Amino acid sequence: MKLEHIAAPEERVVVLDFGAQYSQLITRRVRECHVYSELLSYDTPLEEILSRKPRGIILSGGPSSVYEEGAPAADPRLFELGIPVLGICYGMQLMAHQLGGKVLPGENREYGKTELHVREGAPLFDGLNPELICWMSHGDLVQEPPPGFETIASTVNSPVAAMANVQKRLFGVQFHPEVAHTPWGIEILRQFLYGFCGCEGQWTIESFVTEATEGVARRVGKGRVLCALSGGVDSSTTAALVHRAIGDQITCIFVNHGLLRLEEPERVRATFDQHFKMNLVYVDATDRFLARLEGVTDPERKRKIIGEEFVRVFEEEASRLGDFDFLAQGTLYPDVVESGTKNAALIKTHHNVGGLPEKMNFKLLEPLRDLFKDEVRAVATELGLPSELVWRQPFPGPGLAIRIIGEVTRERLETLRRADWIVVDEIKRAGLYRQLFHAFAVLLPIRSTGVMGDQRTYAYPICVRAVTSDDVMTADWARLPYEVLERISNRITNEVPGVNRVVLDISSKPPATIEWE
Ligand code: XMP
Repeated sequence: MKLEHIAAPEERVVVLDFGAQYSQLITRRVRECHVYSELLSYDTPLEEILSRKPRGIILSGGPSSVYEEGAPAADPRLFELGIPVLGICYGMQLMAHQLGGKVLPGENREYGKTELHVREGAPLFDGLNPELICWMSHGDLVQEPPPGFETIASTVNSPVAAMANVQKRLFGVQFHPEVAHTPWGIEILRQFLYGFCGCEGQWTIESFVTEATEGVARRVGKGRVLCALSGGVDSSTTAALVHRAIGDQITCIFVNHGLLRLEEPERVRATFDQHFKMNLVYVDATDRFLARLEGVTDPERKRKIIGEEFVRVFEEEASRLGDFDFLAQGTLYPDVVESGTKNAALIKTHHNVGGLPEKMNFKLLEPLRDLFKDEVRAVATELGLPSELVWRQPFPGPGLAIRIIGEVTRERLETLRRADWIVVDEIKRAGLYRQLFHAFAVLLPIRSTGVMGDQRTYAYPICVRAVTSDDVMTADWARLPYEVLERISNRITNEVPGVNRVVLDISSKPPATIEWE
């Protein structure tokens, strides 16, 4: 990963990723303590780590055992730099192992909530209760700390549940201070950061906005910037931030592919065109997209057509508007980390409407690439974007096309739009919108018999899909209250012509996916 920050906070902490599922969470928690932190792979060369000038280094947990052949190790020089280090779970075992302590291969596995006994006067635990509940998940354990270290906490099964060498500012905890099940855990991080790394907590959303605005202005100079605005929170925040930095040098293109939700094009235009007074080029390409989708029922073909057509429309518009130097994109930190460390299996061809043509030869401007989603929402609020947009649930690039099973027609789009509006409206009224990752309607291609006002009907069903998810890779169906479901069902069958039945999707992901196509 290249060091390419639009804003460059002075106070940084590096989290080295040894493969734990919680590594990103550690990074987020550190930022919650107002210290900017970055996640790097454990094998990042030391010089690169040092180029960040970290005030502290955190070693994450991981699934390995220090005794496994080829187990990931830390560069031993890391412990000699005079930079404070905190090892968490595997990170602590590694520190113990590499510095001459004794690690036992796991026979007494500890998993879940565990009682922790803290030694009197223990560093990192200042002011905390000596008996605490922490969250454990480990096989191996530290039997003896390395020379120079003292044991500062233990549990029934872990004689060394936390250890410290205060003089060298090296620390290890066997439990996970970053997870919600260790509610006081953030205090441990705070004491490490403020008490031993010398951090002052300079990383705030306001400071990010100020620095990022200056950074964008510096980088762009007198250049021109193009941005594909989808109306989602990432592209909207990107556009608003760049606009704050360089004003009219940014032009946004908003392509309406005809697959958007009810009133969406109008709202996006009202926000950017009228409220922000941005150079916004609105392209209604509905006819083109629908013509190309005629007769198409295969989900992957739909995605491909929409992706291709989008690029075509965008290129045409961009070339009509003259020369641009930069393309602004709403890339976020998890995308940067993930593409740098993992290869996700291809399940559906996701095309991001922001992911635009390489051949256009733009330089990329990605002012949000250091941020997590919740931080982007905070930036959006700071920039004055309306809360409806700030809290908008994600919407797939191919839009409603992948929620209409079978052929996409104007009539079916209209049916789905109305039903979808009702689902979201009722969920918002019930105060549940922000708790759900996604809530929407799907139009199914089968018909069933019904009766309305003594008349037999033979019409289509709407399926309600609502899920919770922390990581998008897995999701659970939301337990919506019966009263909310009842209102959704009544309103859809009464207000949406052509629908006589409402069903509920109770599948989790896996084995299902969130979208139906
Ligand atoms: P699935 O259906 O794969 O969806 O469980 C996970 C998340 O990804 C969104 N999604 C897409 N987003 N382009 C996008 O930008 C796409 O083609 C696409 N397909 C799915 C989906 O809405 C959910 O948030």
